[in-house]
Amino acid sequence: MDSVLHYDIVIVGGGAAGLRAAIAVAEADPQLRVALVSKVYPMRSHTVSAEGGAAAVARADDSLEAHAYDTVKGSDFLGDQPVIQYFVERAPEELVRLEHWGCPWSRNDDGTVATRAFGGMTTKRTWFATDKVGFHILHTLFQTSLRYERIERLDEHFVTKLLVQDGRCGGVAALDIRSGETRAVLGRAVILATGGGGRAWPFTTNGAIKTGDGMALAYRAGLALKDMEFVQYHPTGLPGTGILITEAARGEGGHLKNAEGERFLITRDYGVGQKAELGPRDMISRAITQEIAAGRGVSLPGKTGEFAHLDLRHLGAAKIDSRLPFVRELARTYIGVDPVHEPIPVRPVLHYMMGGVDTDIDGATQIAGLYAAGETACVSLNGANRLGSNSLTECLVFGARSGAHSAAHVREADAPPEAALVESARAAEAELEALRGRQGGGETVAQLRDAMTRAMEEGTGVYREQAGMRRAAAQIAELGGRFAQLRLQDGSRVFNTEITAALELRNLLDVAAAVTVAAAERRESRGAHACSDYPERNDGEYLHHSLVRLGDSGPVFDKKPVELGIWEPEERKY
Ligand code: FUM
Repeated sequence: MDSVLHYDIVIVGGGAAGLRAAIAVAEADPQLRVALVSKVYPMRSHTVSAEGGAAAVARADDSLEAHAYDTVKGSDFLGDQPVIQYFVERAPEELVRLEHWGCPWSRNDDGTVATRAFGGMTTKRTWFATDKVGFHILHTLFQTSLRYERIERLDEHFVTKLLVQDGRCGGVAALDIRSGETRAVLGRAVILATGGGGRAWPFTTNGAIKTGDGMALAYRAGLALKDMEFVQYHPTGLPGTGILITEAARGEGGHLKNAEGERFLITRDYGVGQKAELGPRDMISRAITQEIAAGRGVSLPGKTGEFAHLDLRHLGAAKIDSRLPFVRELARTYIGVDPVHEPIPVRPVLHYMMGGVDTDIDGATQIAGLYAAGETACVSLNGANRLGSNSLTECLVFGARSGAHSAAHVREADAPPEAALVESARAAEAELEALRGRQGGGETVAQLRDAMTRAMEEGTGVYREQAGMRRAAAQIAELGGRFAQLRLQDGSRVFNTEITAALELRNLLDVAAAVTVAAAERRESRGAHACSDYPERNDGEYLHHSLVRLGDSGPVFDKKPVELGIWEPEERKY
């Protein structure tokens, strides 16, 4: 172990949830020393790529009750209603606070904050800063965090293990990617805020860094991952790259069309009713998939597969340039299409994981002192299907809450014995060294990763069926075994990207195991989990959260009740 560092609270992840948590700790007690450990420089966190906006009630024609109900219904009644209630109540103050810290929300002519329509919401409640919202939020949070001297950054540090002793979390083991040195980063509380694991699938909006690291760390520490079968396909990804074309394009009035130029969400019954393009993501992704299956998809020369068209031409250049400049830039750059003059080809793309580390409303897990927030966590806000623009706000609301609660926790909590924590970090270091030295036979990271993403796409797509999910679970388990024979070529220490790719692959395989096992256990269709062989929702048997833990011989499945509230489950129609 090259060094042992001492803090009060260790935050893993430098995106919106991690930065917001760090600021909340500093606000709660400016004397607390916080380590912000991130595998990338925080401004490269995936939050930066968020485009369309953040939801919170702002208008006179809106209400907290309406935001809550839309979220409950969007979740297909699997969201925990007390969590949703807390979220909608705190959302407006978080977005106002962000403005006070410098976030340049777009304005109406009268100076009020502008809001736009988003899928599954009954009114315009998505705050935006053109279509570069993540960029502005991340800058705002990062700059604000710099005001606090006691938030210290460990940039480009890859966390390899949670240090847990006697049921208490006392820090993390980390690899300094730049130097190759290993560190035990100790603290009486740890907050995981590393985002999701979309890179387990081949076609995704997720940046290369989204490898489910926090989820896998918690899973290997014995915690349950909750509701992992629910993964969100965003309806509009660019062919080839999977780059996101924001839902704001439809919020501003864009139309989805098939190869015959027909607005199929209007002309055919896909369950979205009058909401049409502003239906929820799960339904619209299924509609596009069905249009393609029915032979009405758009083909593109040089591109595999078929697509739908997102038509913005009727919005005109002025509106596109003022409200959706990034959409225009992305479409021109990555597919050679100018949306002012041509429709953009799009198809459903893996975007978000509703599941994650099982936490309570404070972000606390079953390990004392361990918290999680943002996409890494499953606080049960999103249930079976998240509404677009709720997730940035989720990072703020629950990042702040987990930060405040961890600050309260460390006032009371003793640290686990340091010697035991350091010994545990040494064991992580030994595993790392064994991996570094593993040259010889076996497959490469790229070969295993390719096999994993193919299995995930085939088994857990927009539509799934039992046999396919079980096959994917078996394939992922088998790939886990093959990981033990992984072949690395680079034994160096400084910026060894092959070793971090191997660590990421190990994390993705754990996440993929939990997803496929949970998916195969849910024999119904709910939200984003659409089973061709069980097409109906079945509240009698499946109105529960799924839990997957790592047992002695692999993943173990369990369940836990959903917390209902004022809304009883009803048929989800728009
Ligand atoms: O389409 C989008 O801008 C995505 C937003 C979200 O996932 O919340």
